[in-house]
Amino acid sequence: MMYRFPLEEFKQWPTPFYYYDMGLLSKTLNEINRQVKGYPYDVHYAIKANGNPVILKEIVKNGLGVDLVSGGEIKASLAAGFDPGKMVYSGVGKTDWEINLGLDHDIFCFNVESVPELEVINELAGRRGKTAHVAIRVNPDIDAHTHRYITTGTAEDKFGINIEMLATAVDRALKLPHLHLRGLHFHVGSQITQMKPFVMLCESVNGLLDYFDRHDIHFELINVGGGLGIDYDTPDINPVPDFQHFFDTFKRHLRLRRNQRLHFELGRSIVAQCGTLIARVIYVKENRNKKFVILDAGMTDLIRPALYQAHHVIQNISAAVDTASDVYDVVGPICESSDVFGTDEKLPVTRRGDLVALRSAGAYGETMASCYNMRPLPKSHFSR
Ligand code: LLP
Repeated sequence: MMYRFPLEEFKQWPTPFYYYDMGLLSKTLNEINRQVKGYPYDVHYAIKANGNPVILKEIVKNGLGVDLVSGGEIKASLAAGFDPGKMVYSGVGKTDWEINLGLDHDIFCFNVESVPELEVINELAGRRGKTAHVAIRVNPDIDAHTHRYITTGTAEDKFGINIEMLATAVDRALKLPHLHLRGLHFHVGSQITQMKPFVMLCESVNGLLDYFDRHDIHFELINVGGGLGIDYDTPDINPVPDFQHFFDTFKRHLRLRRNQRLHFELGRSIVAQCGTLIARVIYVKENRNKKFVILDAGMTDLIRPALYQAHHVIQNISAAVDTASDVYDVVGPICESSDVFGTDEKLPVTRRGDLVALRSAGAYGETMASCYNMRPLPKSHFSR
């Protein structure tokens, strides 16, 4: 069954635009809160997935914290009303002004990715007469088997500190006078649809906790990052991701110590399914062996297909249900041959002026939009 979009409203709005189903977002957030209730778990929303102020407001309302990766994101999350006491800040290249902004707002935790960064944060905190709260990001060397641009936890990539260098880094953090070490941080990758990488992560954390117990070093928190994947192929079957399975994996496999809290940084699984990119068909053209549907939305509005060969379900939402179908390549107007949303897509016979939906585009869609070809950024609309 096809999801029902408010077509009459859509006809009044210039395309392309993002459409957000606020009811689905709210349902998704409720389900997260339901699954963590009664557990020492804190969920932070990875704002990089979608920074739209209307979306942020709904997330704040549901009590989540926020996971940040830049000074710009700190500002946006403050403006949206997130509590600095629930802000965690990751990233391999935090600059001085960004660290200072975090210090000025007494954010909950900097997830620190190197020893030089520990030293800089210590120095900047000292100058302000403050103590910075930090966690050390560990690179657990787990291959999450997602696209190579979005796996982040293997030993070869730039994120975190390798396990063999961890003890030295922890030691350094404990000695620096203006730092307070809260714990360890991990993130193994994104769009992970099997629980195996998360189980491996739990086992890695258990081993490290045992090791540090033996050295009488105790952490108040463990942060396991984000990464839960969503169903891009059939977005209407389970529009709310299986958070029960996800959180159960940690409940079952991770041996938290007494008074220790477990933090999560979820992005995609919170916002992906509530967002759709709506575009208009500009032309339908035929070349030797192909028919092309040319949209007014392109890779500047949704870059995931061009950048990661990702596929978003494409639907012609103007065509009547019983229309005969045809096969098309669905492309955008940008002057790049990678500006393709789908090849050999079976769609109802499509005409100029039809509206097309690119589904599951709520995460890493609007936030990754660009002005290439001097195009305006896409607008957004919300369900009522
Ligand atoms: N925590 C850290 C440290 C991260 O690097 C990320 C994502 C997250 C949390 C949130 O991960 P999520 O729950 O959304 O999987 N642009 C790519 C995804 C990049 C993910 C980057 N890091 C895409 O469109 O697939």
